[in-house]
Order: sequence, then C-alpha cells, then structure tokens
Amino acid sequence: MTNRLRFWAVVPAAGVGKRMRVGVPKQYLSLAGRSVLEHTLASLLAVARLDRIMVALAPTDPYWPELAVASDSRIATTAGGKERADSVLAGLRALAEVAHDEDWVLVHDAARPCLKPEDAERLIESLCDDPVGGILALPSVDTLKEVADGRIGATLDRSRVWRALTPQMFRYRVLRDALEKALAAEEAVTDESAAVEWAGLRPRIVEGSPDNIKITRPEDLPLAEFYLERR
Ligand code: CTP
Ligand code: MG
Repeated sequence: MTNRLRFWAVVPAAGVGKRMRVGVPKQYLSLAGRSVLEHTLASLLAVARLDRIMVALAPTDPYWPELAVASDSRIATTAGGKERADSVLAGLRALAEVAHDEDWVLVHDAARPCLKPEDAERLIESLCDDPVGGILALPSVDTLKEVADGRIGATLDRSRVWRALTPQMFRYRVLRDALEKALAAEEAVTDESAAVEWAGLRPRIVEGSPDNIKITRPEDLPLAEFYLERR
C-alpha cells in the first residue's frame, strides 16, 4: 500500500433539537461552561489519529462563527441536509477531495458531548483491521418488550439487543455508497450502521460507556453536566 490509511471524522450538527423545546439548537446550549458542540469537538480533537473533523452545519447557522474552535486547523465545515443521514452524506462528500476509498470515517453526533477520547481510540484500535467496521454500543440493562397498540406482544432476548451509540466507524467508500443507495431507496436510516446493514454487511459491536448519552430532552442536560464534571 502506497498511501497511509487515514482517519476522518464527520459530525452531523445541522439539527434543530425540536425535542429540547428551546429556541436555540441543542448543540449550542451551554453545558459546564461551554457549548455542547465545543465539548463534542474537544473530545474528537483529543483523538490524535483524526486528520480532519468535518462538521455539517445548518445552512444558516449564526452560532458557529462565535466558537473559538471554528478556527482550529483540523476542523472544517459544510452545509448539512434535511435529515441526519443527509447531513452525514454532505460531510462525506465534502471530504471527497482528501479521503481515499479505504480510509476510515468516524461519524459522531454533535449532541453527544460526553464521549471519552479513549472510547473513540478503543473503537479505532478494535476495528482498524476489520473488513466492515462497526459502532460503539451498549448492552441493554432493562428487559425489552415488543409493543403494538399499547400492548406487549413479546419479550425480546436481552442478550441479543444493544443500544447503538456513536462514533460509528466505516470505510469512506463503503459508507458513502451505502448511504447514497439507502437514501435513493427512501430507506429510513437513523444511523450509519443501518445503511451499511441494509447494504448487506454486518458491522461489529464495541462496548461503549453509559456516559456517552445523546442530549435529546431537557432532562439530559443536567445529566451530561454531571458526567462531564465527574471527570
Ligand atoms: N442532525 C443533522 N442534520 C439533521 C438532523 C440532525 O446534522 N437534518 C444531527 C443533530 O444536530 C444531532 C444528530 O444529528 O447532532 C442526532 O440527531 P437528533 O438527536 O435527532 O438531533 P435533532 O434532530 O437536532 O433533534 P430533534 O430530533 O429533537 O429535532
Ligand atoms: Mg432528529
């Protein structure tokens, strides 16, 4: 191989955070002294293997230029899209000039500010020789039920059900093709793995930390603050 394999990150940060029910997109809410997105990017910047972090922003985003991290040489931005998958794909396309097909891409939600850099590094170490790639995930602690119309149809085998977190790590070309095809087929892909699975591959699981929550509802903010301040 002539070229060293490189590692890139894509951070979808173009959402509006509807479920938070506040005027400001949740990635710009303040958390332990700085914005959610600054925490998220600080975690990724601490991963030395990442050559560049491509952040997908809403086309008109008045908050981004205010962040000190906006001028970091390893960070670049592009315009995101309608759904999360569109934003991730926009990020991948924006890396087309520099990324080779076999390079690895780590996709990480802007709304997960409590990622520990060592968890991202463990993901990289565990998967860099894998033919497919994979994701950070957590085994389920609760008993899980399959429900329709408010009634339980079945109890799922807990040992077979995991919660998908991010980062999710795939080869540039595999991920880009899978997302493009899944979106063209109007498949609902809520994470990268779903697109890769849909393409017929079987991503690996690497156990993550329960701290790595996605800020979704108002009560998640104090919980994230607790995890960050405990470090
Ligand atoms: N995201 C994005 N582009 C979109 C939608 C979401 O880049 N069109 C990003 C969000 O900014 C977030 C991540 O994808 O970092 C996970 O999505 P989610 O938690 O659903 O965030 P929002 O869509 O912003 O929140 P909500 O669904 O409550 O509106
Ligand atoms: Mg959303």
